[in-house]
Amino acid sequence: MQEENKRVLFFDSGVGGLSVFAEVKKACPELAYDYLFDNACFPYGDKSEDFLIDRVEHLLTLASERFKPNLIVVACNTASTVALPEVRRRISLPIVGVVPAIKPAAKLTKKGIIGLLATPGTVKRQYTANLIHDFAHGVKVLSIGSGDLARIAELKLSGVKPDLAEIAGILSPWLNLPEADKPDVVVLGCTHYPLLRPELEKVLGPEITLVDSGMAIARRVVSLLGEENLHADGTAGDCLGWCTARDELMAVRTQYLQRFGIFSLNVLS
Ligand code: DGL
Repeated sequence: MQEENKRVLFFDSGVGGLSVFAEVKKACPELAYDYLFDNACFPYGDKSEDFLIDRVEHLLTLASERFKPNLIVVACNTASTVALPEVRRRISLPIVGVVPAIKPAAKLTKKGIIGLLATPGTVKRQYTANLIHDFAHGVKVLSIGSGDLARIAELKLSGVKPDLAEIAGILSPWLNLPEADKPDVVVLGCTHYPLLRPELEKVLGPEITLVDSGMAIARRVVSLLGEENLHADGTAGDCLGWCTARDELMAVRTQYLQRFGIFSLNVLS
């Protein structure tokens, strides 16, 4: 009997998870995917920890009953750094979280200074403090918690050109530092930010290395599902998009999801 394609459920508050999805799909084109984003409650960056734990657990329980995935990727740092333990307790599937890539950044820095760019929620989490404590020993970590960059990334996908002056304003705490005190490696600690990589590179300058978690997550998915289990009959699996509220952007969202290989968008009810 023909084996079905393995299914992976991706989750984020918005378009950010697409940056991770793109890496995983490149590595595993044969898998079938559901991409679920919580546009009803976007952004997550300013929400309380209790709210996020309840919301993420509720949506992932609902989606895993409905889609029967083999694995879940919580492609959101803001959600992963607070809700993973509860979600893992409730759902007995392999769950891959995305958290800021502090460890590789600390290995890469030559100056001993790294920047962490993330949502206000992620920069103040205990989980993030623990990552810094465990993996950035002797390295200075300068954090910026932005409530605006994720929104700018959402707008970019909808066709609104990012304003470089606005981005420079957000990054001004680093840009205003003397050259010797600036980070030489910056962690993109929100999955929305790789979607702004060209703009961030322009504003920060070519000498700064930007690090994200996308490829590491792709390797993790391959290792958890097992290389030999990725193939069903060699054809690409289906990729379905799901949101949590019907809004005026449905048509625009359908178009940009198509650019990522996701050919439908429905409301998860
Ligand atoms: N993409 C999300 C992250 O990785 C957060 C964006 C938001 O909803 O604030 O943190």
